[in-house]
Amino acid sequence: MINHFPVVGVIGAGQLARMMIAPATALGIDLRIFAQDSRDSAAQIASHVVGDYKNLTQVLEFAQSCDVVTFEHELIPLSVIKGLESNGIKVYPPSSAFIYSQDKAAMRAKLIDFLAPASQVITDASAVNEFPAIAKAISGGYDGRGVWKVNSQADLSEILAHTSPLLVEELIDFDSEIAVMVARSPHGQATSWAPVETVQEDGICTYTITPAQCISPSVAESAQKIALEIAQLVGVVGVMAVEMFVKGDLLYINELAMRPHNSGHWSIEGSVTSQFEQHLRAILDLPLGSPQMSAPYAVMGNVLGAEKSDMYRPYLHLMARNPSLHFHQYKKEVRVGRKIGHITACGEDLVELIQEVQHARDYMSGVIDE
Ligand SMILES: Nc1ncnc2c1ncn2[C@@H]1O[C@H](COP(=O)(O)OP(=O)(O)OP(=O)(O)O)[C@@H](O)[C@H]1O
Ligand SMILES: [Mg+2]
Repeated sequence: MINHFPVVGVIGAGQLARMMIAPATALGIDLRIFAQDSRDSAAQIASHVVGDYKNLTQVLEFAQSCDVVTFEHELIPLSVIKGLESNGIKVYPPSSAFIYSQDKAAMRAKLIDFLAPASQVITDASAVNEFPAIAKAISGGYDGRGVWKVNSQADLSEILAHTSPLLVEELIDFDSEIAVMVARSPHGQATSWAPVETVQEDGICTYTITPAQCISPSVAESAQKIALEIAQLVGVVGVMAVEMFVKGDLLYINELAMRPHNSGHWSIEGSVTSQFEQHLRAILDLPLGSPQMSAPYAVMGNVLGAEKSDMYRPYLHLMARNPSLHFHQYKKEVRVGRKIGHITACGEDLVELIQEVQHARDYMSGVIDE
């Protein structure tokens, strides 16, 4: 029998790769994972090879067994992606787009026509005179690691001693933060989901509300328009998150992530097409699915590791208390503050959804015991 279904290779085996497995299975797409370790979240349950994503020879060997290759993290060196491309591998997003999600300085330069915090790249603290400011590692930061609030040149010098150059940005005293997820396919079809309000504590997203309640319908429309314009400008293929700060009616671009994103997890149950399925459709150049919501509101809460290590027993209490909750476990080792799962609730009563998700998330991680 000829197998007409494509093989998609995913570099990285964290929870994002893990959550691509269900829609790939449903669509009959053969997903293969390039993991760092067999115990990685997605490697536990999918066909995979173990290798070093920084090693072009190893990644190329894996890629040659796939029809299309994509990534679930931003750590893979641009030189490796370019190496795959020059060997004729279909890699999405392409290196020409991926650079803007990997290099915050290149992203700021590319998006010069969009409103964003004023920024500069520095290697010397004396270049900055206005404080407080935000300093960022140009590459490799995540979950607020690699982002520092600085109050003086002395603060900056301390950071420059281990991370240089730095991108230093104007601190935006924003009202709220949103993210707009978009998807774009090689032939240019593009679509976006409703803007999502992302609530962060200590630089890490703790929960999201869709559609974002912190913006008016007209600002929501502009946010989607901006995200689609950026998708086209950078030539992304696959899904991308455009993170923005909201201040009054103004939208400042924060950063781009070219992969399924935490701000899109709600879409698994809350949208006709989830971000994970859409990513697969987009990189395979299939027609995109509907981004419509399947309920008026969707709330997603991240379960962060705390004292409790048993993530199964909490189901007894939580499932009995609320049969409408959706649970996702990443099966990662529980470490304090690490994202180890998420919980989603969809429905009509937003206040109740937020309460229920926050309760479940805190009970799951052991922050509360009732
Ligand atoms: N210019 C700024 N002004 C005010 N706050 C900022 C600024 N830049 C970043 N922040 C805060 O720091 C958080 C993390 O910044 P950013 O998104 O650039 O970092 P990251 O670690 O790469 O992202 P992620 O957590 O999405 O992986 C933002 O969500 C926001 O709360
Ligand atoms: Mg961010």
